[in-house]
Amino acid sequence: LATTQNNETERLALLEIKAKITDDPLGVMRSWDDTIQYCEWHGVTCGGTYEQVTKLDLNSSEITGTLSPYIGNLSFLQQLRLDSNNFVGMIPDSLGKLKNLTIMVLDENMFNGIVPPSIFNLSLLTQLSLRQNELEGDLPSGLGNTLPRLQFLSLGSNRFTGLIPASISNSSSLDVLQLSQNHLRGHVPSLHKLQRLSRLVLSDNSLGYDQDEDLNFVSSLANHTHLLWLQIGQNNFKGVFPKTICNFSSLAILALHKNNIVGEIPVCIGNLAKLQQFVVSDNRLSGVIPSSIGQLQNLYTLYTNGNNLSGVIPSSIGNLSSLSKISLSHNNHIGEIPSDLGNCTSLIALYFANNSLTGGIPLQLFNLPALSTMIDFSENHLTGSLPEEVGKLNNLQSILLNGNMLSGQIPSSISRCVVLEYLYLGKNNFGGSIPDALRSLKGLLEIDLSYNNLTGQIPPFLADLQLRLLNLSHNSLEGEVPIRGVFNNATNILLSGNDRLCGGIVELHLPRCSSSPDKQESKQGHTKKLTVTILSSFFGVILVLALVLVLLKKSRKRKKTNEPVSHDISGHRIFPNLSYQTLLRATNGFSPEHLIGSGTFGVVHKGILEEDGSVVAIKTFNLEHHGALKSFIAECEVLRSIRHRNLLKVITACSSVDNQGRDFKALVCEYMVNGSLEDWLHPSHETSNVKSLCDTSRYLSFHQRFDIAVDVAFSLDYLHHQGGAPIVHCDLKPSNILLDDELVAHVGDFGLAKILLEGVNN
Ligand SMILES: *[C@@H]1O[C@H](CO)[C@@H](O)[C@H](O)[C@H]1NC(C)=O
Ligand SMILES: *[C@@H]1O[C@H](CO)[C@@H](O)[C@H](O)[C@H]1NC(C)=O
Ligand SMILES: *[C@@H]1O[C@H](CO)[C@@H](O)[C@H](O)[C@H]1NC(C)=O
Ligand SMILES: *[C@@H]1O[C@H](CO)[C@@H](O)[C@H](O)[C@H]1NC(C)=O
Ligand SMILES: *[C@@H]1O[C@H](CO)[C@@H](O)[C@H](O)[C@H]1NC(C)=O
Ligand SMILES: *[C@@H]1O[C@H](CO)[C@@H](O)[C@H](O)[C@H]1NC(C)=O
Ligand SMILES: *[C@@H]1O[C@H](CO)[C@@H](O)[C@H](O)[C@H]1NC(C)=O
Repeated sequence: LATTQNNETERLALLEIKAKITDDPLGVMRSWDDTIQYCEWHGVTCGGTYEQVTKLDLNSSEITGTLSPYIGNLSFLQQLRLDSNNFVGMIPDSLGKLKNLTIMVLDENMFNGIVPPSIFNLSLLTQLSLRQNELEGDLPSGLGNTLPRLQFLSLGSNRFTGLIPASISNSSSLDVLQLSQNHLRGHVPSLHKLQRLSRLVLSDNSLGYDQDEDLNFVSSLANHTHLLWLQIGQNNFKGVFPKTICNFSSLAILALHKNNIVGEIPVCIGNLAKLQQFVVSDNRLSGVIPSSIGQLQNLYTLYTNGNNLSGVIPSSIGNLSSLSKISLSHNNHIGEIPSDLGNCTSLIALYFANNSLTGGIPLQLFNLPALSTMIDFSENHLTGSLPEEVGKLNNLQSILLNGNMLSGQIPSSISRCVVLEYLYLGKNNFGGSIPDALRSLKGLLEIDLSYNNLTGQIPPFLADLQLRLLNLSHNSLEGEVPIRGVFNNATNILLSGNDRLCGGIVELHLPRCSSSPDKQESKQGHTKKLTVTILSSFFGVILVLALVLVLLKKSRKRKKTNEPVSHDISGHRIFPNLSYQTLLRATNGFSPEHLIGSGTFGVVHKGILEEDGSVVAIKTFNLEHHGALKSFIAECEVLRSIRHRNLLKVITACSSVDNQGRDFKALVCEYMVNGSLEDWLHPSHETSNVKSLCDTSRYLSFHQRFDIAVDVAFSLDYLHHQGGAPIVHCDLKPSNILLDDELVAHVGDFGLAKILLEGVNN
């Protein structure tokens, strides 16, 4: 099928074809053997000749090469799925001979050149997906006439040019029209005949003529009350914010960003009760944010940044309990930051930079349990101090408060913001010395304390942090400048405007220090450096995951498991710092007896923590495997923001170096006594290494199976609808469903998960 350079790949590809070539009514067969077995059990005839194949599904089969034109001989073919492979070259013209095709999916390959016109003549097609290739050329003007049955057209992320054919309105069954990320231009034709349209995604093209009539096509959707997605951002659309949008009562995603839209956000926007994403950033909107926004109970993304909006931030925003990201930056908002924001318990990130906000930072914000990415209040007129309570933000990555009028000392409680990477307090009125508390913030990357009134010496421990920027310019600091760490490169430290500093590396051109504690400091520095190197290899960079949400328990009682987790006085969970060495001891040197599973990106060991004897599962990523690091990062990214009783609980992440000095990345999870669902459903697949503590016969009753299915459904409902941004697991299978001591299911392995952000255009 694919002409490849590599015989082995070819052989595997052929095996795959055999495996998947037969119709599989239940979708249960995963290998050729399964197929044979299935056929024997059910007494049906499987197979037949290739020519009679009606369905060819080879998605994600790692096939490389060009697509053979002989595929055009499979004249019975109705469904062709070749997505997520590495096909290159042109799409063969012979595909146009497959007159019975109803579904053609070639997404996520590297097909290039033009799409053979014959493909647009396959009049039975209901789904045509060519997303994410390198295809080019204009779309045929008669497309809607030649593909009258089309329900799903996805051509996004290619290099298509020209106009959207007006005939598209004749494909009257169209449900999904996805043309984003191309070079389409011009007028969007009337879509009023597309009564079934639910998802319209045209973002990131050059559509519109920058004229007032550009948005007329939106009115042509006026009767489409079931429109779910309207994504037309990053185009050249001009015109007034269309009020018709308020009539799209099912709308979940409204993305109009990066256009030239003027006018006000209509008050009737509050009618869109199902709206989840409201993204109108980078337009020329004026007026105020209507307080009716507080009626959008399902909203989780609110981006109005980069407009000319004015007035106060409506306190009704406090009504939005699902809100997870809000950006009002770069507008003209005045007044105080509403303390009601403290009710938005799902908030992950707050961006209010470059407005004219006044007053203090409301203390309620420091209690937000999910705040983990960003507080950006920079370039406003905020006054008062940075409150002690900042220490409650122990899951926050960035605090940007530069360019305000904040005063007082930097509170020492900041030492508890242990995941902080960016601390920008420049251009304020902070006094006192650089706090010793920064010493504990091992993850800090950038510190800006410039243009304040800080006094005293530069603390030498700053040289021990892995900083890449330290901006201390324009303060009243004095004394010796260290020479190690960040201080060793003049481009990364800014010290000007501190008249009484001395020493440092020569490039800084500072005067020599008069007394000469040089030798002592460098000797101390050396021992310190040694200690720190040892310490950091011991502890690594620990990503502290989000706080526990107290979850409703199902009627089934659950025994309290022995978790290696303690609680501080405020009841917040503190995650242990687990180093490579600790994990090494916990698993007896990652010994085979402790091995409980292995996957594409690494292995899982059972570990017993010395500290309290608690049992954990340790997933180590094989970083030599292409994609493993990505998988680790994806998993951390996802786990950062989710908590649910039917999701595998991650205790901590360990990012460190091993004994050979190689990078070491691991996730430490709750240990699931009863292994995976796969072990129960297919016990014969169990390797000899997989030992279970539960030696009763591995049989699940209907009732138990039902409960497990419900548990999994709960977790997916949470991932898709209840958490912050929807998360797609992408790898849900029995081996990723783990069972605890009471056979409660916990979904794990988020290595392939995708977080759907505002660009849900895939
Ligand atoms: C849509 O279909 C009708 C009837 O077949 C045809 O007359 C019309 O020209 C088509 N519209 C476009 C824009 O092609
Ligand atoms: C919407 O429907 C009404 C009545 O069914 C009709 O009169 C009107 O023309 C339609 N509007 C559009 C834009 O299709
Ligand atoms: C919304 O729909 C109603 C009835 O269908 C109509 O009267 C009204 O003009 C529409 N509003 C907008 C802003 O299009
Ligand atoms: C807050 O939400 C409720 C629905 O839960 C709604 O009835 C009310 O109008 C909203 N309040 C504001 C100020 O928007
Ligand atoms: C240092 O801080 C000042 C004031 O905030 C800023 O203007 C300057 O760009 C900063 N320098 C760097 C390299 O970030
Ligand atoms: C800076 O600090 C000194 C003493 O620490 C104080 O006397 C002075 O008023 C402060 N300057 C400003 C602008 O706050
Ligand atoms: C200093 O840092 C800059 C930017 O991080 C880098 O480009 C440069 O190579 C460094 N210089 C030295 C001497 O390490």
